[in-house]
Amino acid sequence: MDAIEIQGGRPLKGEVTVSGSKNATLPQIAAALLAPGPSIFHNTPDLADVRTMGRLIAHLGAKVSRGAEVGPHTLRVDASELPRPEAPYDLVRTMRAAVLVLGPLVARMGRARVSLPGGCAIGARPIDQHLKGLSALGAQIELSHGYVEAKAKRLRGAKVLFDLPTVTGTENLMMAAALADGRTVLENSAREPEVCALAKVLVRMGARVEGAGTSVVTIEGVRELKPVEVDVIPDRIEAGTLLCAALVTGGDVLVKGALEDDLDAALGKLREAGATITSEPGGLRLKAPARPEAVDFITAPFPGFPTDLQAQLMACLSVARGASRVVETVFENRFMHVQELRRMGAEIIVDGGHTAVVRGVERLSGAGVMATDLRASASLVLAGLRAEGTTVVHRVYHLDRGYEALENKLLGLGARIRRIRAPGP
Ligand code: UD1
Repeated sequence: MDAIEIQGGRPLKGEVTVSGSKNATLPQIAAALLAPGPSIFHNTPDLADVRTMGRLIAHLGAKVSRGAEVGPHTLRVDASELPRPEAPYDLVRTMRAAVLVLGPLVARMGRARVSLPGGCAIGARPIDQHLKGLSALGAQIELSHGYVEAKAKRLRGAKVLFDLPTVTGTENLMMAAALADGRTVLENSAREPEVCALAKVLVRMGARVEGAGTSVVTIEGVRELKPVEVDVIPDRIEAGTLLCAALVTGGDVLVKGALEDDLDAALGKLREAGATITSEPGGLRLKAPARPEAVDFITAPFPGFPTDLQAQLMACLSVARGASRVVETVFENRFMHVQELRRMGAEIIVDGGHTAVVRGVERLSGAGVMATDLRASASLVLAGLRAEGTTVVHRVYHLDRGYEALENKLLGLGARIRRIRAPGP
């Protein structure tokens, strides 16, 4: 199994470019299912999750090509025919976002059978809001043998009030409503930049979507949509992770593709931690103090502090001056990095499952640690960059789900880091 070995202690310096956004790519290539004909997506990251989605879409009967035929970061999805509207367990179990094919399939094909999802082991993560929304649009939903079966001759526009803002839930319903009969109003929608990016793609496909980026999204259904060619936005979570890497090492890094508006809450906290962040053409530069200052933060749906950056900022705070309080409100069970960080000398106590108190220490010491989910693995890499001695992060397949060649990007910034083959711990 691959592992990442890091000799810590070197401040990162230089420039790095963020890849295309995973969480924007996944719904957009699912949206290609709404229109017959070839859609083309540039700047897609070459990641396990994107490849899984490509395999799933190919399984449905669409033609998917990337790499040699169309370019390394371009993905072409020709959804002229979708003879098999079924997403099997094998493909869905590793990636919860596979549920994003449900809305487009029911809307265009009138039926879909999708295995209940797996994904990161962070909490229960149900899909009840997706199903509630589709059933409000008139789909008949049945759950059996671990699958969701949804059927509808044609979906009808309706009002949907989400119990909580869900990113993929909002995206699924926007796609379904795009081909429904009449007007759909989605209330308490997620406002993440990836939701806005999807709305823009749908509009270019001929959909009538308004309000994306606010909590009320209105979709006026149309009869048909056309294929599209798009550039995927940069990955704000990767950008935030690289900024955290600069902070934790006391470095000075220009992150190209980091967008201020998409990262407001995180930038505020990085500044509170003592970083100087300046806008430069094409990106953001972070200059870090020798040691961060302690910072309290609470994760929340956008525009709040992203849960997907919680573990990375916590790694920074583990070497901060003073004590920080971190509250995770979006997911349960998202502190799995804590026990591994503690193995490296961090002093963190989890209180009640949702709150962690981090007492900053002067030094972390390199250790063998195990990645447990995507963002947890990034936080262990960051801690390894700061720690004295050698850190080996095992189970990096979690990291590979969401970061394209992170070790090469860090290497380019002067980190001593390499991928090795290691027996599992
Ligand atoms: C998306 C992101 C993921 C990020 C998360 C929160 C993608 C592909 N993934 O995941 O990286 O961590 O947003 O920013 O974009 N919930 C329900 N019922 C539902 C749906 C969600 O209770 O039907 C709950 C979840 O358990 C969670 C909260 O709502 O507690 C938010 O989850 P959601 O926004 O749906 O996350 P994802 O869309 O899966």
